Formats: sequence, C-alpha cells, structure tokens
Amino acid sequence: VERVFSGVQPTGNLHLGNYLGAIVNFVKMQETHNCIYCVVDMHAITQGVDVWGGPAELARNTREVTAAFIAAGIDPNKHIVFNQSQVAGHAELAWIFNCVARVGWLSRMTQFKEKAGKDRENASVGLYDYPVLMAADILLYRATHVPVGEDQKQHLELSRDIAQKFNNDFGDSIRGHGFNDGQFFPLPEPFITGPATRVMSLRDGTKKMSKSDASDNSRINLTDDADLIAQKIRKAKTDPEPLPSEENGLENRPEADNLVGIYAALADRSKSDVLREFGGGQFSSFKNALVELCVAKLAPIAAEMKRLVADPGHVDKVLVDGADRARAIADETMRQTMDVVGFIRKR
Ligand code: TYM
Repeated sequence: VERVFSGVQPTGNLHLGNYLGAIVNFVKMQETHNCIYCVVDMHAITQGVDVWGGPAELARNTREVTAAFIAAGIDPNKHIVFNQSQVAGHAELAWIFNCVARVGWLSRMTQFKEKAGKDRENASVGLYDYPVLMAADILLYRATHVPVGEDQKQHLELSRDIAQKFNNDFGDSIRGHGFNDGQFFPLPEPFITGPATRVMSLRDGTKKMSKSDASDNSRINLTDDADLIAQKIRKAKTDPEPLPSEENGLENRPEADNLVGIYAALADRSKSDVLREFGGGQFSSFKNALVELCVAKLAPIAAEMKRLVADPGHVDKVLVDGADRARAIADETMRQTMDVVGFIRKR
C-alpha cells in the first residue's frame, strides 16, 4: 500500500481553504492508503512571534489542528497523527538535505518571497529553509503521495529535486549498501484535486484565502458559528450578473468561480453539476443555499473540535502515541541514510 504524508501548520485560524484544499482529501485517502498526518509545529515558528503567537498559543494551536483532523474524520488509530517536533528525524534529515539542496533552488521559492516581504534581510533562516524541512517531512517516511492545496506545488517540486539529487549524489554508496539507487528516496507526487484546490478570499476573488489576512470577513474559519458563517457568505463579494449555466461562463469572474467551487467541494459535486442547478439564478438565492450547505458541513466539525480541545490530555495522548509509531518508521530511514552518507552510529 502506498504511503501518504501531509502537514498543516498550527498557526491559528484554520479556514475553509485548509479544509477543502487539504483536509477533505486527507480524509478520503484513508480508504486507499497508509496515511501520516502531521501538525508541523517546527514550520510554525519560522515567522515572527507576532505570527505564531508564542509558546502558549503554539501549544493551543497544535491541539486545535489535531482536533480538526479528528473532527473532520481522520482516524488516529488506523493512521498516524502526530506533531513534527516529537520525531527528531525531521530535523536530522533536513540537515542532510540542506547539504543537497542549492541556494539557487531556494531563492526561486515564491512563498518565501511573499512571506519575507520587502525586509528579506530580516527574515529567519528557518523561513528560507522551510521547503527543505518539508522535503525531509515527506521523505523521512518515503511517502509517495502528498495531498496539498495548489499553493504547495512549487514546494513539492523542490522535494522531488532533493530526492533525485540525493539518490544521484550518493548513488554508489546507496548501491554499495545494497539499496536500489533509483528509489532510495522515491519521488513524491503532489495530489492536488477537487474543485477547491485554491480557495480565494471572500472579499477579493484574486487573493488566496489565508490565515494571515487582516480581514476576518475574508475567510470562513473552521471554528466560526452558524451566524458568523451566514454573515460572511452574505457579505461575500460578487458581480452583478446572474450565475452562468456552464463552467466556461465562470472565466474572468473570480468571485463567482470561487463561490461555485466552494459549493461544489462541500457537496462533493463538480462545478458544472452545481451550475446545472443554479445557473441563470441570482447570487442571493445561491448564497442562501451555500450558507445552508456550509453550516451543515462545518457546524458538526466545529462542535466536535470544541469537545476535543476541552480534553487536552486526550489530544496529547493521540499525538504522543502517533509520534511513537511515526518514529519507528523514521528511525529506520535515518539508520539507512546515515550509513549511506557515511555517518558512524551505534549498531
Ligand atoms: P499550511 O498550514 O499553510 O496549509 C495547510 C494546507 O492547506 C492548504 N491551503 C489551501 N488550499 C486551498 N486554498 C487555500 N486558500 C489554501 N490555503 C492553504 C495548503 O496548500 C496546505 O495543503 N507547507 C505546508 C505544510 C507542510 C507540508 C509538509 C505539507 C509542512 N510539511 C509536508 C505537505 C507535506 C503548508 O502550507 O501548510
């Protein structure tokens, strides 16, 4: 069975984009794959403390993402759910990959440029190195399938480049230790599917829905209650035309495209199917249907998250138990990798 790995940062404001772009697919892939879902607390601290909120907030957000995974339908008994910092192999493999990845590759990462902003000299080294740690996350488990939103595509390509260069650079040693050099680190495949791989801001259809947007009205948080969801959707930006009847009518109408995509993803239908039902109608009635669907899908998740975070002992136990199982896989990869690199270790 193929192995899936993916991660979510505990940086607060888990939103509909995280849910539809990533978590919904995490849930689906449980049926066909062995899955490892990681709360990437080491990635979370790469930006300023004003972004991640400090130690108490980090712990709170780590538990909240864990609760969201479970509430959305991830089964931590059948699959693995844990927080990154508990398994030392992530940092260890990232160091080795730091010596494989090239400065030029990292300098091309658009997410670094966006997050570092104008004051690049003042960005943390960790933020620059973020995609290398991400490659280590995936390859530590030799995962081949990585469900993510569209915005992670470039990082996944970098992970493939790192895997390929390692296999190549250490080819002789890999073969010398009796491993298959083509596949010592398998090249991970991004899994970016569904009608909502890039959910946009409710205030501006050309901007990604994001945790860091100053306007809370730009996103639907997984913890929003029914009234707030209704209010945000009713206020969402639209254009004056009625909805088109076919998908190509959504071209150059980013807000309409976004809302139809959200509806389709929540209903597990295609956009053209949704337009067959709502095409020709006004936004107001479509928005009513969207509010209803959104509340029906998200309210039970919010309620279950609330119940789970009220019992941090249970959530922490899930993470500790998941980390023990993750470590068993990670340690084997690290032993093999240390041998291949030439690091002496206890036998
Ligand atoms: P994070 O926490 O920023 O995002 C978590 C997931 O949500 C997706 N996402 C979106 N999808 C659709 N529309 C949006 N507006 C939207 N915003 C966010 C992201 O694509 C992501 O899948 N770097 C990763 C975390 C990570 C990781 C990994 C992922 C660390 N190591 C290894 C995969 C494999 C991230 O962006 O997290």
